[in-house]
Amino acid sequence: MADDKIFYITTPIYYVNDIPHIGHAYTTIACDVAARYKRMKGYDVHFLTGTDEHGQKIQTAAEGKGITPQQLVDKIHLNFKNLWEVLNISNDDFIRTTEPRHIKVVQAMFKKLIDQGDIYKGTYSGYYCVPCETYVPENAMGPNKTCPDCGRPLTIMEEESYFFKASKYVPELIKFYEEHVKAVMPKIRYNEIMSFLKGGVKDQSVSRTSLKWGIPVPGDEKHVIYVWFDALINYAAAVGYLDDPEQFAHYWPHVRHMVGKDIIRFHCVIWPLMLIALGVNLPVEVVAHGWWTYNGEKMSKTRGNVVDPFKMVKEYGLDPFRYFLLREVPFGNDGDFSELALVGRINSDLANDLGNLLNRTLQMIKSYRGGLVPKCVGAESELSSMAANVLERVDEAMNNFAFDEALKIIWEFISRANKFIDETAPWKLAKDEAQAERLNFVLLNLYEALRFSALLIAPTMPDTAKKIRAQLGLNENEKLSYENFKWGEGAGTTIKKAEVLFPRIDINEWKKLQEEKKMSEELGVRNEELKNEAPAIEHEAEISIDDFKTVEMRVAKIINVEEIPRSKKLYKLEVDLGYEKRTVCSGIKAFFTPEELNGKNIILVTNLKPVKLCGVESNGMILCASVKKDGVSEQLTLLTPEKDIPLGSRVS
Ligand code: ME8
Ligand code: MG
Repeated sequence: MADDKIFYITTPIYYVNDIPHIGHAYTTIACDVAARYKRMKGYDVHFLTGTDEHGQKIQTAAEGKGITPQQLVDKIHLNFKNLWEVLNISNDDFIRTTEPRHIKVVQAMFKKLIDQGDIYKGTYSGYYCVPCETYVPENAMGPNKTCPDCGRPLTIMEEESYFFKASKYVPELIKFYEEHVKAVMPKIRYNEIMSFLKGGVKDQSVSRTSLKWGIPVPGDEKHVIYVWFDALINYAAAVGYLDDPEQFAHYWPHVRHMVGKDIIRFHCVIWPLMLIALGVNLPVEVVAHGWWTYNGEKMSKTRGNVVDPFKMVKEYGLDPFRYFLLREVPFGNDGDFSELALVGRINSDLANDLGNLLNRTLQMIKSYRGGLVPKCVGAESELSSMAANVLERVDEAMNNFAFDEALKIIWEFISRANKFIDETAPWKLAKDEAQAERLNFVLLNLYEALRFSALLIAPTMPDTAKKIRAQLGLNENEKLSYENFKWGEGAGTTIKKAEVLFPRIDINEWKKLQEEKKMSEELGVRNEELKNEAPAIEHEAEISIDDFKTVEMRVAKIINVEEIPRSKKLYKLEVDLGYEKRTVCSGIKAFFTPEELNGKNIILVTNLKPVKLCGVESNGMILCASVKKDGVSEQLTLLTPEKDIPLGSRVS
């Protein structure tokens, strides 16, 4: 299989309810670099990413906004699509779990497993957080069995559920991993998965009756399929598991999943067990990378400390950001994101090493040879022999997804080329006519080192590679390949004008700027707080006393309170005005129990036009005072007469 030169790589499909941050960017950039590298090696590459769009959180968020879950995900999945465009991601496909092509595969697989007896109906019981509407696994509970998200006590809940017979296939999976020790990478994750498997795996609950926003269980529509069972199937659905067996047979034997270490159990235990049950072969590799923190803390929406990739790209440029993420931490390890470290890399690796090599070389070719890359007899040098070796070492690193290692090797080569300038001192050679051939040799070698470097960095920094090629006088849009590179072939090219690739960032200036930014951000937060402390008061236009008199208000007594089954907000109240009784609907249910209202004297606007609310005719309005935030009342009190006064008395 290995020499089929087919490479199918996937990112996790991201939850659409999250704001995309550098963690998501990292996985996707890493896959992009692997995909671009393999394409340059002549592989038939298929690169898939997408979004995970079902589940309770989406349902709740959509309800809060008063739109359907589908409308919500149609909008917010674009956060990810846009980011991938900005990050120059070369994915071949983007799958959404709400697409029919995905849904029908999920249902077909579910049904197949029911039919063959590997999915059965049982009862699920677990600790449940009612306000968050979610089960909490025992190992994730807070102190005293509380919800890790909201801190409230959990209750035990039972529901009917379908179960997948995961336990049945565990011995087969263990055997597979014993025979394929590189199927989970790195080694530390492999060991973790093996010991987990050997501890036994329970049958997995794969359906829910507690939520609606999911894929219905075929033939039993009160259940929806559990979001992870649903999500994992995207990898097979996207390459035609159901509709295009030929495409599936082509790519599936070469599938590799890249994931963060947070979700390896799903990818290295549950998913392979599902595949074994379905009779589908297992992924070649699951590659797990480490976790990014920011200033040592977990990034999260609620902490408000997520590093925004859009912002990073805007401030520091795309390619420096891509380079930094992959170069800074050994793939597989955790890393802490620091802008200072990013600036350091820009100055040393990019501006100094790579930028200078380009600039010095082009300047010399221009000054000494009028911009024409010289020919010479025999171009082999220390640089050319190093180049051959670099390709091999980079290839080994890339096959192990050791992106940092590959970049280190590439930068050794770039440094060697810079040293070659110092050793050969072309400026001295230029002064001596007798050294003309030697100078040709040196300039050609430096030019070739750059042409080669542009190839090496292309997967990580595609735009920079193009810019370098343009300055070198080469076709920047040519499809690049490692196979066709021949040292010395660049002779005779006319170079273009040298331009600075990466401007140096003055560290002191940068630090000052950061301080200022921090201060203005803090000021911004303070202003927000001030705004909240003293809510802006909205005033109505001035009216005359005659205007006011047109509103008829009278004292009335609440004599009966009923719920309106269809409404969360409204009560149906009966009020006595002394001279008549009326029915009034009032949106005060959130603030009072019926007992609290019954018997209260209140003020009623009596000459409002009747309206129908939730099917009930309302004849008047009860006066209240309230504190509102974003149009919603947070506190509310009824207006009541200060002394006893006959019902029906007019307010003026
Ligand atoms: O888990 N550091 O989606 P998700 C590094 N929908 N990587 C990070 C990261 C961080 N701080 N934060 C997130 C899901 N990631 C499921 C996946 S797949 C069938 C379903 C990356 O939106 C990392 O790749 O929570 C992690 O595995 C993934 O985002 C989780 O994305
Ligand atoms: Mg997550």
